[in-house]
Amino acid sequence: MPTTNTTTSTTTPEPKNAAAWLTAPKTRPFRVAEAPMPVAGPDEVVVRTRAVALNPVDWYIQAMGIIVPAEGYPAVIGCDLAGDVISVGANATATFAPGDRVCGLAGTRGAGANHKSGAFQLYTKVDRAVLAKIPVSVSYAQAAVLPLGLSTAATAMFQKEAMALPLPVIGSTATTAVDAAGKKKVLLVWGGRTSVGSCAIQLAVAAGFDVATTASARNHAYCRSLGAAWAFDYRNPAIEDDIVAALKGRECVGVLDAWSRGSVAQCARVLLKLDENGSVGGGRKWVQTVMPSADMVDEEVPKGVEVGYAYGSTLANNEVGPATWGKWVPEALATGALQCKPDPEVVAQGLDGIQTACDTGAKDWGASSSPKLVVEIV
Ligand SMILES: NC(=O)c1ccc[n+]([C@@H]2O[C@H](COP(=O)([O-])OP(=O)(O)OC[C@H]3O[C@@H](n4cnc5c(N)ncnc54)[C@H](OP(=O)(O)O)[C@@H]3O)[C@@H](O)[C@H]2O)c1
Repeated sequence: MPTTNTTTSTTTPEPKNAAAWLTAPKTRPFRVAEAPMPVAGPDEVVVRTRAVALNPVDWYIQAMGIIVPAEGYPAVIGCDLAGDVISVGANATATFAPGDRVCGLAGTRGAGANHKSGAFQLYTKVDRAVLAKIPVSVSYAQAAVLPLGLSTAATAMFQKEAMALPLPVIGSTATTAVDAAGKKKVLLVWGGRTSVGSCAIQLAVAAGFDVATTASARNHAYCRSLGAAWAFDYRNPAIEDDIVAALKGRECVGVLDAWSRGSVAQCARVLLKLDENGSVGGGRKWVQTVMPSADMVDEEVPKGVEVGYAYGSTLANNEVGPATWGKWVPEALATGALQCKPDPEVVAQGLDGIQTACDTGAKDWGASSSPKLVVEIV
């Protein structure tokens, strides 16, 4: 039999990156085109994106031209991603390896400096301080709902210049949040059904607090399933007195206003009433917003209450990133102490679908039970 000498090439083609580019301020649609292949810096990890979630900031950047400076265009935006690790910077090899399934917050610190490292691309470099492995039981679409919500909640709750609460502990063994009578202190999370609030409830429970929250009545069971002990309807005119009555005899460490759009003054009033009720203990009266600065809170806040501000990505620069993303998140995902909520709603596939998802999100944002929109990037 004649023999033929064939050679088979086993070389894998170099991966090529592509992004949904925001070409100029206030332009739509995103333009899907080639993008440079990211290279991991020492503290970075390159991830092949498999799912991205949408956040209000995405459609605000596109519609209003905020956050990205003129020199940042064309830009790649997007915060929330889940995917597979491709390459790992020298300082991240103890935690991450190629092939790991991860989720994380794109566009922070070094990785965010040029406004071309957002999540809306096939390959994204992510700071190791805001990245975590995900167990096989968690899908990419589920994991993608976490990054900005969790980061904003953690920044607001744990950073020293914000609420400075004790950090979460695996196994709910935290004992640092107990009052003089031996009862758990209480954190009020306003807006427990928001992405930020859903993570805040779970972080607060893990930090040892009892959680009171507000949501539409139909979401009270949802908030309780995340660990809230009390849920109140924010549309009920009697809500302030109802909260005060429920927390009689308990020490409230403050309010995390996870909505912060017209709700800050009300949170402050609740805190003042709790103080009259003897429920603020020796602590300060603190309403922690999720707005980056005072000029974004257009409300007359009653005197006697301090108001805090937070920018959701700053935890990458301090001890809160490693303590939450580095330590608590991977373990809590593995044990089920952290649920990926609100549930993802996959509305499109591929980078071409990001504009559709952005438009859908912008349309009814803030309506009751608004879904967490996800685009799968296969
Ligand atoms: N500082 C930062 O870096 C940063 C980062 C991310 C987000 N944020 C801000 O955080 C806030 C939440 O964002 P998100 O993405 O988490 O929101 P989201 O998940 O889109 O929130 C949707 C939910 O908001 C709830 N809601 C609407 N009006 C409310 C009110 N008056 N009181 C309480 N809850 C209300 C609704 O809950 P029901 O279904 O129960 O009615 C709705 O389901 C926004 O203001 C956003 O701009 C800030």
